Amino acid sequence: MTPDRMPVPDRVRVHPGVLAGTVTVPGDKSLSHRALLIGALSDGPTSVAGLATSDDVAATAGALRSMGVDVRLEPDARGALEGVVSGMAGEPDDVVDCGNSGTSLRLLAGIAAGIEGVTVLTGDASLRGRPVDRVRAPLEAMGAQLWARGGDRRPPLIVRGARLRGIEYRSPVASAQVKSCVLLAGIGANAPTTVWSPAPSRDHTERMLTHLGRRVERELVDGAERVRIEPGAPAAGAITVSADPSSAAFWMVAATIGAGEIRVPGVCVNPTRIGFVDVLRRMGARLRVEAPREICGEPVGDLVGVPAELDGARIDGPRVVDAIDELPILAVAGLCSRRGLEVRDAAELRVKESDRVRGVAEALGALGIEVIEYPDGYRVPGGQRPTAGSVRAGGDHRIAMMAAIAATVGTGPVEIDGFAAVGSSYPGFLGDLERLGAHVERLPSH
Ligand code: S3P
Repeated sequence: MTPDRMPVPDRVRVHPGVLAGTVTVPGDKSLSHRALLIGALSDGPTSVAGLATSDDVAATAGALRSMGVDVRLEPDARGALEGVVSGMAGEPDDVVDCGNSGTSLRLLAGIAAGIEGVTVLTGDASLRGRPVDRVRAPLEAMGAQLWARGGDRRPPLIVRGARLRGIEYRSPVASAQVKSCVLLAGIGANAPTTVWSPAPSRDHTERMLTHLGRRVERELVDGAERVRIEPGAPAAGAITVSADPSSAAFWMVAATIGAGEIRVPGVCVNPTRIGFVDVLRRMGARLRVEAPREICGEPVGDLVGVPAELDGARIDGPRVVDAIDELPILAVAGLCSRRGLEVRDAAELRVKESDRVRGVAEALGALGIEVIEYPDGYRVPGGQRPTAGSVRAGGDHRIAMMAAIAATVGTGPVEIDGFAAVGSSYPGFLGDLERLGAHVERLPSH
C-alpha cells in the first residue's frame, strides 16, 4: 500500500499553526481521467504515468475494466500510478459504478454512446443527485438513446449506443465535462463534431487528443468557445500527467494567509485551470510560477506561495469557470482579507459533489464565520478569523480540505467529520498537512 492509499481517517482535529515547506500533490484529476479514457480510445496500447491514486480516478479505471479494457496500473516510486491501457471498450457485463466522480460518469457516457449495446452508469448518493440531462441532449442528437431518473435528469444513466452522427452542438453550460463527453463521442462519429460553449472551459481533452496526433480546432468567438474534432482514433502513445492545480490551490491559499513559504513542484498551470492564481494575485498575493515547462501539451510550473496582506476581490462572469473547483478554498482567502470575497454567476457550484455554496456557508459558519449566500454564489466579508468548532464535510472532498486550511489560521482546534471524502482527489492530504508542520489528531469515527 502506498502512503497515499493508507486509509484516510474519517474524523480529524486540526490545530492552528504555521505551515511551511515543499509538498508534491497528486496527479491532476481531470488529466488522470482523460489519460485513461483517451488511452482506451487510442489505436493501440498507451502508456500512462503520474496518475492520481484517488478514488475518482480508480472509478474511471474500474469502469473501463468492466467495459473490457485492459487497464494495468501500479504505483511508481513517488506513489503515483503508472501503467498501460489497451483494448477497445465494449458493452459492460454489469452496472458501471462511477462512485463520487461526475467526470467519470459524464465522459464515459460519451464513450458508451458509440458502443453497440447498453451501458448503465451510476454512482454514490451524491452523484445520483447530479444533472445528466446536459450530456443526454447532445448524445441523443448524435443518435444514441439515453434514459435517466427524475425526468431523465439524474443517474443512473442508461445509454444505448449507436453508430453516431457528427453534429454541431451548442451547450447551454460552459462545462468541460459536457464538451469532453461530446468530443469523445465524436471520435467514433461519421463526420466532424463541433461543440460551442458560452464561455471557455478547461481544454485538457483537446490538448491530449492533439498530443496523440488528432487534429482539434479550438477558438474563442466573441467570448464563446468553439471546438471541432474530426473522427478517428488517437494514435497510441505515452501520456504523463502533471500535478493537480486544484490540490495545489489549498497550499497556495494556506501560504498566502499564513506565515511560511510553501512550494508545490510540477503543477499543471494550464490557463483554464489557474483562475485561482489570478484571483489571489488580484487580492494582493505574491504567488510565483517557477521553472515553466511543457509536458504532453500542458504548461507546467512550480508554484510558490508566500505570506501576503490580502485586499478584496469579486469573481463573476466567464472568469468563474477557470476557478470553479477552487471557489471553496478561495472563501478562506476572502475571510482573511481586508474587504472580503464576492462570487457571483456561479450557480454551477450548487451541483458539484455537494451544494458548495451551502457547504461553504455551513462549514465556515460552524467556525463563526459570516457567509452570505446568493442563489449563484456567496460573499465572505473580510477581517474575520475562524474559531474552534466542529465541521461536517458533507461528503465533499473540497469542503473537508477547506475546513482543514481554515483551522490552521484559526483561534482553536477544528474537528472535521466526514474527512475521508478527501480520498476523491487527494488521499494523502492529511500526511502533507502534517509534513508542512500542522498538528493533526486522528479521531475515532462516531
Ligand atoms: C471537470 C470539469 C468541471 C470541474 C470538475 C472536473 C473535468 O466540471 O468542476 O471537477 O475534468 O472536465 P464541469 O464541466 O461540470 O464544470
